[in-house]
Amino acid sequence: MTSKPFYVTTAISYPNGAPHIGHAYEMIATDAIARWKRLEGREVYFLTGTDEHGIKMVQTAAREGVTPRELADRNAAEFKRLAGVLNVSNDDFIRTTEERHHKASQAIWQQMAANHNGDIFQSTYAGWYSVRDEAYFDEAELTEKDGKRFAPSGAEVEWVEEPTYFFRLSAYQQKLLDLYEANPDFIAPKERRNEIISFVKGGLQDLSVSRTTFDWGIPVPGAPGHVMYVWVDALTNYITGVGYPDTESELFKKFWPADLHVIGKDIIRFHTVYWPAFLMSAGIEVQHRVFAHGFLTVDGQKMSKSLGNVIDPFFLVDTFGPDALRYFLLREVSFGNDGDYSHEKLVNRANADLANNLGNLAQRSLSMINKNCEGRVPTPGPLTDADNAMLAEVDTALAAAQAAMDQQLVHDAAGALIAALSAANNYFAGQEPWALKKTDPDRMATVLYVTADTVRRLTIPMLAFVPASAARLLDQLAVPEAQRTLADAAKPNQLVAGTELPVPQGVFARLERPAEA
Ligand code: MSP
Repeated sequence: MTSKPFYVTTAISYPNGAPHIGHAYEMIATDAIARWKRLEGREVYFLTGTDEHGIKMVQTAAREGVTPRELADRNAAEFKRLAGVLNVSNDDFIRTTEERHHKASQAIWQQMAANHNGDIFQSTYAGWYSVRDEAYFDEAELTEKDGKRFAPSGAEVEWVEEPTYFFRLSAYQQKLLDLYEANPDFIAPKERRNEIISFVKGGLQDLSVSRTTFDWGIPVPGAPGHVMYVWVDALTNYITGVGYPDTESELFKKFWPADLHVIGKDIIRFHTVYWPAFLMSAGIEVQHRVFAHGFLTVDGQKMSKSLGNVIDPFFLVDTFGPDALRYFLLREVSFGNDGDYSHEKLVNRANADLANNLGNLAQRSLSMINKNCEGRVPTPGPLTDADNAMLAEVDTALAAAQAAMDQQLVHDAAGALIAALSAANNYFAGQEPWALKKTDPDRMATVLYVTADTVRRLTIPMLAFVPASAARLLDQLAVPEAQRTLADAAKPNQLVAGTELPVPQGVFARLERPAEA
């Protein structure tokens, strides 16, 4: 390993129901980023998990006639299973009900309480709370309809009044503004950064950080009857995952501060205002960056249980396979913006880019090699201008993909690779190797070599997006496991002439819309 270790996380999901396609999306996008960093040769730690405390879990459990723990156990297992079927390469899966996390949350609390003789103090909270958002709101942020009040998310709020502990968030306004100023990449995309800066400039109020009306949470140290506000414990998962409070542990020293928290746009305030303030208060280094992705709708509509359009990601994996789903979400949705899911769009996108473009090029060139070159990597002759232009096209695409991934612009990275594959299909068609077979077999060998090596170079980065299919394709090119890095992709002509290749098999099936949809 030559370069810096990389620590990346998703948000941790509330396991108050089964995972939906929005959760799958976040796991897939974060996985693509983690896998890309590994392809760069970096040591990566990738954490995901479930956020199991809070009143929302209590209320859902009561409705379903189970305990919060039973509800959490049941659904956390589904989130874990989802990561598995999506081929997500997380190194750990954290559940906030775990002992290690209780320990970490109580430790950070004590640090915050100790700081400045008390960033944490007792008072009484009286105000609005949205259970669905697990968040407090000012009167001014709410809308009113039929005598009820609603948070910006559309969730109804309730009035709560209870003695609680507060975190002195107001003391962090300038420190946060300084942080954003000194670290222009702290919040992405850019528009989100501007929103947060103006929010913080507007003034920060102290934050109620404990609850006394229920007990499904992490006990506040030395304060019987108080459990931590769920977001205090939830955010802390990112340091629990690397061994906090043992700041001398190998994991913590290697991976903290986190390089990247990938989250949805609805929870950006928690990650870019509260979380760095908690960390500063506790004397812990602040994370490097937060990327807020957009929301997925389904057939143009917001997903909701009442509309009955909540998409089950397990069904999609069963129907299309994980790679088609992954590719569609990564390529179709511009990362950072909202996106829309439909079966039709998935099928069209996967067929166009995976089956017709990459799959077709691989299959055509490999079948010709199988039939005409004794199933071995052909020996290339001198390269022509057309060959060199093809090589240069791949160089450009790889550089563009890398530049895009440096900013988490996953859709642009995939787009650059696919554009080069289109160019390679044109190259192959233009060179007509099937005609050269009779007229100039040596030239045919060169064209087949250049094509196969181009497939190799563009498939290696696709390992981040469609890991299983890209690996199968590289197997067909007999690319050794150890030579599947971006540094190998950058080098042309790495296929070794004479290497025996397996009989080629199509990797990307053509998809059809499921009958019932
Ligand atoms: N538990 C909190 C996060 C705590 S992180 C310390 C939470 N959970 S959640 O289950 O509601 O959402 C988990 C993640 O999924 C969030 O990043 C959220 O933005 C994302 N999404 C939830 N619905 C989504 C879509 N419809 N589309 C895309 N992402 C969505 O928030």
